[in-house]
Amino acid sequence: MINNIKGFVEQLNYDAEVFGNSFEYSGKRIFISGMGGSGAVADLLSDWLDGEIIPVKGYNLPAFAENGDLGIFVSYSGNTEETLSVLDKALRRGLKCICISSGGALEEIARDRGLLFLKVPSGFQPREAYGFLISAVVKALKIVGYLSEDAQREYSSAVGKLSNYLPELSSEDSKTYEVAGKLYRRIPLIYSQFYSVAVRWKNQINENAKNFAHISIFPEHNHNEIEGFEFPDFLKDKAWIIFLRTDFDHGRVKLRMEVVKEILREEVVGISEVWAKGESKLEQILYLIWFGDFVSYWLALMNSTDPYRIDRINSLKERLKIHTSGG
Ligand code: F6R
Repeated sequence: MINNIKGFVEQLNYDAEVFGNSFEYSGKRIFISGMGGSGAVADLLSDWLDGEIIPVKGYNLPAFAENGDLGIFVSYSGNTEETLSVLDKALRRGLKCICISSGGALEEIARDRGLLFLKVPSGFQPREAYGFLISAVVKALKIVGYLSEDAQREYSSAVGKLSNYLPELSSEDSKTYEVAGKLYRRIPLIYSQFYSVAVRWKNQINENAKNFAHISIFPEHNHNEIEGFEFPDFLKDKAWIIFLRTDFDHGRVKLRMEVVKEILREEVVGISEVWAKGESKLEQILYLIWFGDFVSYWLALMNSTDPYRIDRINSLKERLKIHTSGG
C-alpha cells in the first residue's frame, strides 16, 4: 500500500490504453459516474474545472441529462452496480459514453458496443489506483477535444512538480505522521472549501485506517455545524479539527476559517491546519489529497490495522449479490 501511495505521481502520468470509437464533444455538460475510490475522480475534476463536471453518485442519472450530453463511467473493478445502472440509463437516453476500468462488466459492455474505453492496470485496490483513474479521465477529456490547452498545461505542470514533495510527505518524521498522531484514537473533523479534498481524506481514513471521520465544507459549515458542539459531551475529549487550506479558498472562507478556529478552540481536543503547496489550483488540491493518503496510512499502522483489507465492503457486496431484487 505505501509503495502505491508513493507511486501517485507515476500513476498520474499513466498513459491508458484506448479502445473503441473516438468522437468529438463540443457540448458543455459532462456527467462522471462512479462510487467510492472511483467516484472520487469525479469530485476532483469538478473542483478543478469549476463545476463544469457533474459527479453522479448512486443509481440514477439526473433528469436533466439528455441526448448528446457526455457521460464518463469510472469503476476500477468494472463491476459496481450503481455505475452500471447509470450507464444503462445513459445509453438509453442517448448520451455519448466513455468507460474507464481495469476490466469487469464495464469493459465487456464498452467493447460489445464499441464505446470509447480506457483501460487502467489491474491488481490494485480501487482507492490505490486513484492516480491511474485521474489520468485516464484527463486523457479521455483530451481525446474528445474537451480539455483546453491551458488545462492540459496545468495538469502536466502540477503532476511534474508534485514529485518534489515526496520526501517531505513520505517520511516518518514528516508532518503527515505528526497529523496522523493527532488523529489517533480521535474523531477527525475535516474542514475544507474543496469537497474533493475533504472526501478523499475521509474515504482514505475510513478504508485504510478503519477510523471514523467526518467532513464539512466551508462556508456551509458556518450556517449549521458550528452550533453542533454542545452534545454529545464526549466530543470535547475526542474530536480533532483539521483545516485543509489552499490559496484558492475564497477570501471570505479564509477569514471564516480563522474566526471558526477561535470559536471552536475550546470545544474540541485540538485543531491542526495543513496548507497546500504548489502554484495552480490543481497542484494544491493534489498536494492535499496526497498528504491525506499518507496520513491515512500512518493512522492505519497506529491503529494496528491492515490498510489493504476492506472486509466490510467486500462482505456487503457479496451479500447484495444474493439479492437480485430492488433494481
Ligand atoms: C476500495 C474502494 C471502494 C471502491 C467502491 C467502488 O478500495 O476504494 O470505495 O472504489 O466500492 O468500486 P469500484 O471502484 O471498483 O467501482
